[in-house]
Amino acid sequence: MVSQRARDIEISGIRKMFESAPADAINLGLGEPDFDPPAVVIDALCDAVRHGKNHYGPSAGLPALREAIAERYRALDAEVSRDNVIVTAGGSEGLVASALTLYEDGDEVLIPDPGFVLYAPHARLAGALGVPYPLDEEQGYQPDFDELEKRVTGRTRAIVVNSPSNPTGGVFSPATVDRLVSFAEANGLAIISDEVYEGMVYEGRFTSFWGKSDRVVVVHSFSKMFAMTGWRLGFVVAPRALAPDINKVSYHLIACPSTPAQLAALAGLAHGLDATRAMVKEFRARRSYISRELNRVPGLHCRPPAGAFYTFPKFDWPGTAPEVAGALLKRGLISTPGDAFGARGAGHLRLSFAASRPNLKRAMAILHRYAEEVGAN
Ligand SMILES: Cc1ncc(COP(=O)(O)O)c(C=O)c1O
Repeated sequence: MVSQRARDIEISGIRKMFESAPADAINLGLGEPDFDPPAVVIDALCDAVRHGKNHYGPSAGLPALREAIAERYRALDAEVSRDNVIVTAGGSEGLVASALTLYEDGDEVLIPDPGFVLYAPHARLAGALGVPYPLDEEQGYQPDFDELEKRVTGRTRAIVVNSPSNPTGGVFSPATVDRLVSFAEANGLAIISDEVYEGMVYEGRFTSFWGKSDRVVVVHSFSKMFAMTGWRLGFVVAPRALAPDINKVSYHLIACPSTPAQLAALAGLAHGLDATRAMVKEFRARRSYISRELNRVPGLHCRPPAGAFYTFPKFDWPGTAPEVAGALLKRGLISTPGDAFGARGAGHLRLSFAASRPNLKRAMAILHRYAEEVGAN
């Protein structure tokens, strides 16, 4: 009864871990801010719901929100307009709609390893194959262009990039971004740039791919920006020639994005991003704390991430990452095994610092106890 494509994809390692956790476990596993949405965003959602804004809207999103999103990109591209913007049910749906619009059966798509869990399954759902390209900690998680070139075949259709990265926290330098654009152009590839962690950079600076080539599709989200992951709202910015097709696919996936959530996001954008900046300030402080403390745990090695809100420490404890994550889970700490993000994540754990400082402290105590149990030094 079940299609081969459904059999070929697996439930993400992140979700699995979450679903089998003890109720009082400390969750450094899931990727969402531990903040409430800004008050202005909550108020706008409540107002919308109370004032009858509970119905379907246009499949590409409310024109006013599309316009407000386009405005954010105008500094990069004077020509961008709401016609380039499709509002989606989170970045996740933006990614799958882009994959279904761009990939043909039998295509190959370059995806980061380690990289976010949806890229390969989305390629598979679109009939294509995800081909991992390595991102190496020693290179600050900048891609190796020789390795990229080696993976290009006559079937390569696109490259997926994600800076700041989940799970590595790597941020591409402006030079890397330019080189990736040249690489994609030279090989006739589309670039799907997942920019959902845009505002969250602690070292270096964020560089959008938008405006650098007409081959770029930016996938973005309000999930992290306004800590509204459960409201499911994101957007795609795409070349004008492609946007109507992505919109068509998105229509067949979700009909339209949530109307009240869109009105809330619109109010949030109009108000400005002070709440987001305050959240990122807190993440920055936690990043310093967790990076320092993880390196004090015998057997753990952690480079402070340049962006996003994850650490990706290497361990030299016995066992594989799923075994170590399983053992930590029994001791009350939810983490994500690095290999959930690709083969090169083996030997790593992903630990989110989108958790309160007391919980980060408790997590450190569990890690110290575990290191002692396994005799690390
Ligand atoms: C890199 C990356 N892209 C996209 C998403 C999708 O987020 P959402 O669907 O909530 O916008 C996530 C969520 O964790 C992510 O980490």
